[in-house]
Amino acid sequence: YVNLDVSHQIMLKKNAEFIVQQGKGILAADESPSSIIKRFNSIGIENTAEQRRIYRQLLFTAPDIQQYISGIIMHEETFNQSNDSSISFPMMLTQIGILPGIKLDRGLESLTINTNETTTLGFDDLEKRCEDFFNRGARFAKWRCVLRINKLKNQPTEVAILNNAIILARYASICQTKGLVPIVEPEVIPDGDHDINICQRVTEKVLATTFKALSDYDVYLEGCLLKPNMVTPGQEAKKKVKSTDIALATITALNRTCPPALAGIVFLSGGQSEEDATINLNELNKTFYQSKRPWPLTFSYGRALQASALKAWSGKRENESNAQQNFLKRAMANAAASKGEYDE
Ligand code: 13P
Repeated sequence: YVNLDVSHQIMLKKNAEFIVQQGKGILAADESPSSIIKRFNSIGIENTAEQRRIYRQLLFTAPDIQQYISGIIMHEETFNQSNDSSISFPMMLTQIGILPGIKLDRGLESLTINTNETTTLGFDDLEKRCEDFFNRGARFAKWRCVLRINKLKNQPTEVAILNNAIILARYASICQTKGLVPIVEPEVIPDGDHDINICQRVTEKVLATTFKALSDYDVYLEGCLLKPNMVTPGQEAKKKVKSTDIALATITALNRTCPPALAGIVFLSGGQSEEDATINLNELNKTFYQSKRPWPLTFSYGRALQASALKAWSGKRENESNAQQNFLKRAMANAAASKGEYDE
């Protein structure tokens, strides 16, 4: 690896493997202030920096959370905030044995005129931001790209797939030179009425193109994580499928496209209910599939770890412990599912 000395490679591999260690996964708590507004509105909470701090503190201080969670992805705002005792969140997490992660992308922008296809922003001062966050405790990073399925428009187009793959590869290579494990997230979003076969085919094309780009940019796969969607029908599809169908289609797509050298795969929940996200992850980790794939498969869930906790909290200090119990219930269930041991 031309860009990476051996000590860097060792650190990246060690941290990537730490994140996907048996029975643990990631809490994605990196909603931007403007995107968490939807979640706060749903429970009637004012969207202020202090409310966001209180909410994140509640999640991060849930008792024994480190038994189930190995890494937490934060938005820059949260990364810069502190707990009630003025200990910064990244420092506090490091102290309890959780790796702090940072969302480095700066959201989506139209790819071309007159299309709803997107590219992702965030290359301005990226090297400097990586250095800075690393020095303040971050050990991994996330960057999300979005691909949309629209059969009538033949989307995602080749241009969208290629552009987003190259962006992810460039981000990943910059992260690694600065010591951060990159999470590469090319999300095929579930909007639409397409069936599971179309999602599988699109996911395969997106992943194959992404790994070609990662190779072109000399990304060190042993120190890199993939955050894909599970292969499911679109949310408006008439025909529903079973978790066994989702597991088979997902494993097939991953096996056809992801090199065995990759350190691990951490799924997003992408609008699945809390229970569905757990059941599907559990199915993917059942013995039948264990022998068929070479990487650990675990969770990097946002909504599927937080939905019931957020509702239980409803912005009130007296509900905090109840909210933490709701969050821990999901964390524990998904930790079990990452071993194929979830009992419904
Ligand atoms: P969801 O699990 O809510 O899809 O969020 C995960 C994530 O980090 C998307 O970028």
